[in-house]
Amino acid sequence: MGPEGIGTLVRRFRCQARLTQYELSEISTVSVRAIRDLENGRVERPRQETVRLIANGLHLGESQRLVLHAACGGSAKEAAAKLISDAAPIEPPARINGLSGREAEVQAVVEAMTRDHNRWITITGLNGVGKTSVALDVAHTLHKLHAYSTLWVSLDAPGPHPDGSDRFRVDSAVVAEVSRIGEHLMGDEFDARQLVQMIGQRRTLLVLDGCDLKRIGADRVLALLAGCHGLRVLVTTRDSGATPGEHLLPLEPLDVPACETNPPARAEHHPAVQLMLSHIRRLQPRAADTSAATVGHLVGVCRALDCIPAALKLGAEWGLVLSPVQLLERARRDPLSLLISPTVGGAGPALRQTLEQSVRTVTATDRQLLGLLAPLRTGWTVQDVARLAGIDEPDSARRVWGLLVRGLIRRVDGSAGSQFRVLNLVARLFEMQEPETVH
Ligand SMILES: Nc1ncnc2c1ncn2[C@@H]1O[C@H](COP(=O)(O)OP(=O)(O)O)[C@@H](O)[C@H]1O
Ligand SMILES: [Mg+2]
Repeated sequence: MGPEGIGTLVRRFRCQARLTQYELSEISTVSVRAIRDLENGRVERPRQETVRLIANGLHLGESQRLVLHAACGGSAKEAAAKLISDAAPIEPPARINGLSGREAEVQAVVEAMTRDHNRWITITGLNGVGKTSVALDVAHTLHKLHAYSTLWVSLDAPGPHPDGSDRFRVDSAVVAEVSRIGEHLMGDEFDARQLVQMIGQRRTLLVLDGCDLKRIGADRVLALLAGCHGLRVLVTTRDSGATPGEHLLPLEPLDVPACETNPPARAEHHPAVQLMLSHIRRLQPRAADTSAATVGHLVGVCRALDCIPAALKLGAEWGLVLSPVQLLERARRDPLSLLISPTVGGAGPALRQTLEQSVRTVTATDRQLLGLLAPLRTGWTVQDVARLAGIDEPDSARRVWGLLVRGLIRRVDGSAGSQFRVLNLVARLFEMQEPETVH
């Protein structure tokens, strides 16, 4: 099938905007007759000004205007630039949930991109920790406050799809042309110049969500950054590609509330506890209990689940059949069992499975180190690791750094310098000594 003609395109965009020819005429000041003639294919090379007025009337985004321009057989650069300069920035996909906490992370990324010109930021961390959610908030903030267009490309789980293709999914809220950017970026026939032309020089945030850079190739991202001066790239991934030019944000789980035996005042306002309570209230609007004792139990559940947002959501789901005390008892005894959704046929791989994958994909020496650190009940330092593993301090620091970026350990408050702990859920995996996971 050849490319669509200008008439077909105008009709398609007009129908998408849910406007009649008459309504579009009113908005655009182009006569109904001219619109009708164009749509019926009676005019194949309309005047550039007519196309510009129609594009404005339809509030078309930049990439849609480019498609229109190409369909007119247009090649003059000035005409294309004029058409595009009126385009409204492309909106990010709609948010599905609100965020608890994460203001600091979102602000840090936005400021790094706008004020400090860090043009490529990669958010790393475990599955379920909230990488996609933070990226979405960043996209909304950049769109609202700095008029950025969003090109949101969602990439599937690692590995090619069973049908042999590298599958990617594009949020339906984004114009169809975005899918072409995903295709180009991942495809065998990558042509930087073509993509640079599609993205242009305007302020644009390209989000590569759930991206394995080894599949795309960092050089492709760098080529786009070199060609598109207004472009910012935000990658979310479990593991960093450690590419020059890339700035990392290791996303740790939400802060851990203080111990449950003595719940601090206002513990229910802590982001992790708040998140759990909101899930519980949603599931049990009439039975929800926020007494100090219940909040105390939930603090304990949050701690056992490492305050990973997706884990807290699952914990709250189990709360439909387990009271807060029972939930706490289960979370202490067997927290991994709470990571399997009670929802029959729940979507996506179980969180527990992806956690196992994250442990499995570190190097054998790092896995060994994790096994050594997992049983430690108090925080440890880089120096402790050097002593324990019999390695020198720079090597120890490098390996602790790698585990932190992958989200398998977290920082804890300590008086003796930076201290860390293995996540409780990761430590439990080692405790169980599941042969395929650990060795
Ligand atoms: N800070 C947060 N507040 C509320 N819900 C969150 C938060 N972070 C993540 N979530 C929820 O947890 C789940 C996993 O988050 P997601 O952003 O998809 O994680 P990731 O991309 O790291 O796998 C989603 O249902 C998301 O809505
Ligand atoms: Mg994600």
